[in-house]
Amino acid sequence: MTTTSAPVLGIETSCDETAAAVVDADARVRSSVVASQVDVHAAYGGVVPELAGRAHVELLVPVTEEALRRAAVSGADLDAVAATVGPGLIGSLLVGVSAAKALALTWNKPFVGVNHLEGHLFAALLDHRDIEWPVVVLLVSGGHTLLVSMEGAGRYRLLGQTLDDAAGEAFDKVARFLELGYPGGPAVERAAETGDPAAFAFPRAMAGDGLDVSFSGLKTAVVHAVRKHPAASDGDVAASFQEAVVEVLVAKTRRAAQGCGARGVCLAGGVAANGRLRSSLTAACDEAGLPVYLPSRAMCTDNAAMIAAAGKWQLEHVGPSSLGTGADPNLRLAFVA
Ligand code: KG4
Ligand code: ZN
Repeated sequence: MTTTSAPVLGIETSCDETAAAVVDADARVRSSVVASQVDVHAAYGGVVPELAGRAHVELLVPVTEEALRRAAVSGADLDAVAATVGPGLIGSLLVGVSAAKALALTWNKPFVGVNHLEGHLFAALLDHRDIEWPVVVLLVSGGHTLLVSMEGAGRYRLLGQTLDDAAGEAFDKVARFLELGYPGGPAVERAAETGDPAAFAFPRAMAGDGLDVSFSGLKTAVVHAVRKHPAASDGDVAASFQEAVVEVLVAKTRRAAQGCGARGVCLAGGVAANGRLRSSLTAACDEAGLPVYLPSRAMCTDNAAMIAAAGKWQLEHVGPSSLGTGADPNLRLAFVA
């Protein structure tokens, strides 16, 4: 077991955000720089992998320099360089992984390969130091929707997951269908502010059924409703869709927490930035007498502070990664049985 006494540099390039951050030995964020590629992909209505990889190449050096400058540290002051090794887009991952290894070699520091999903799970811990285990974490991102019992850092039990689309993917697809703009989640949330969440009674798939979720039928229901009611306002459709997603996620998270005797509930991943999900989960947890830990919105969407924090923990409890560790686009989270 290594004890880190110096900051860790984190690098995140798994999708369309180029990010670098410095997190202190006591897990305080000294800097977190995120360069969004929204402008690069907006014209295409979604992430174009080839363009994402190239943009990471251009942005990573200035973003990393800025993170080190804001934290007022140099390579020599670091304990390690951590980078997301998966899951994600292979071309994007390779940029961050190669850069992190090169920096680690140059500065003679250990390299730590971090699972992006584990990074999201650590995000809530950055803002809340008083968490009592176990907690149930609802991890909702563009590629994943997982209900996890976190029994401590590094110990995760899978409780439920999506059987088809991830929650963020459903937001993105509905945004594209309604032509609300990109990125989809925030665009749907903005449109929903002007609409009535009860305007359409969209299906709550698998509501009474275990802890898994499914969103592909909901997306199809949105398409059918709009074709049947062409005059319907985008606001009403967006608000009703958002309500259906949030209602199912909140009900399942609450049930999961009560079922496994959790002492609190955490949110993680890009969709955790959604205001309706945050307020609805908070209300449900208040009613159930469960503390709820919400990461700041900046820590919900992809960032490198969560990667540095997970990397710091991994360095201390698992050890450094070999420089032979490759990027793995399909990397899974390791669950305890
Ligand atoms: O965690 P993240 O930044 O990247 C992945 O690891 O996928 O999550 C991105 C996802 C996208 O699907 C995006 O539309 C969604 O999170 N998202 C939101 C909001 N902000 C981002 N979904 C709903 N409401 C939001 N405010
Ligand atoms: Zn993510």
